[in-house]
Amino acid sequence: MTPFDPLFLQALDDLARQDRRRRLHPLSPYLRADFRTPHGKTLLDFSSNDYLGLSRHPLLAERAADAAAREGTGSGSSRLVTGTRDLHERVEARIAALKGKEAALLFASGWQANASVIPALARLSKEQTGATMLVFADRLNHASLHHGCAAAGLSQIRFRHNDLSHLETLLQERAEMPGLKVIATESVFSMDGDRADIPALAALARRYGAFLYVDEAHATGVLGSGGAGLTAGVGDVALSMGTFSKALGGMGAWVAGSRALCDWLLNKASGFVFSTALPPSVLGAADAALDLLPDMDEARATLSRRADWLRAQLADQGYAPTDSSTQIIPVMAGEAGRALELTAFLEDEGILAIAIRPPTVPAGTSRLRISLNAAQSDADTERLAAALARFSTRR
Ligand SMILES: Cc1ncc(COP(=O)(O)O)c(C=O)c1O
Repeated sequence: MTPFDPLFLQALDDLARQDRRRRLHPLSPYLRADFRTPHGKTLLDFSSNDYLGLSRHPLLAERAADAAAREGTGSGSSRLVTGTRDLHERVEARIAALKGKEAALLFASGWQANASVIPALARLSKEQTGATMLVFADRLNHASLHHGCAAAGLSQIRFRHNDLSHLETLLQERAEMPGLKVIATESVFSMDGDRADIPALAALARRYGAFLYVDEAHATGVLGSGGAGLTAGVGDVALSMGTFSKALGGMGAWVAGSRALCDWLLNKASGFVFSTALPPSVLGAADAALDLLPDMDEARATLSRRADWLRAQLADQGYAPTDSSTQIIPVMAGEAGRALELTAFLEDEGILAIAIRPPTVPAGTSRLRISLNAAQSDADTERLAAALARFSTRR
């Protein structure tokens, strides 16, 4: 016990009183109900973002191991020192091709990319226009995008979620203001599973001379032709960001855009400059995932069909409707305590569906965030639906 611990403990108690305290649970999630589990508590996983099941794919494991055996387990330094390898450049070239961009730049994680790319863009605005950058941000953007703005000392101009007429009003009001104007959005929203209208956003960006920044963390691999996401092939998306940590089953992230953009970021994005390069094993897995992606149409179709089925079941069971149209399906609970109760109920039924509470989502909108996985079976989703039905009739 240090003299500071009472401060921490008091603050943690405050969180617990609001049902907002988080804890780590030593669970062993498994993908399939027919998987023979070892000892201990194992739960059917409806919470991870491994949408295509690639994190367990033998090719990724093999290529990760090969790369580590060949090149070592660490990169040794930042890309700018001695860290750049052929594999970095190969994976970047493949991402650029997938997204239809001139270039791409890898980051250690999606969080790190968003948190450091926004400040690098803000710096560009200040240096080149003499004016503060304006960020027009969807209200439901991921915490890492908010963090990037906070790190750059910017206050965001927030538009109502997916409300492009609100966005246009805000752009119009500031049309004469100097400085780089950035529109920042996700293409699939992580907690709601709904989509942004990328072509309409691109048209607004063009009309108002804005830089469109799209986070494709939850779309890449799952949506778009060959899993390329929702920005691929849409002109006027200046920056398409994504991660290997979700449908691509690994770790790490990228920013894709023009060569000039990537060259600026490799000079000024602190999360790139001052952080050790992604290691060979991670790159080997990413490269293998990119090999598999184009041929996974069947898995993508399965996800979409199963998601439609589950949404219909939830509607029949009286759960509140949502705007989800993807593999992410929120089950709305309202207050945090209620969401925790639902998670505990499902846990007793052998199902892992974590409660998502403020500040991750706005107060009063706590929920279970169900994420489907193509490596599961229809019977697994049926089991989840049956458990949710039991909960709803219990009320
Ligand atoms: C929309 C979005 N962007 C960025 C991230 C961060 O990505 P990573 O987990 O690779 O740090 C996440 C992860 O939860 C996300 O949901």
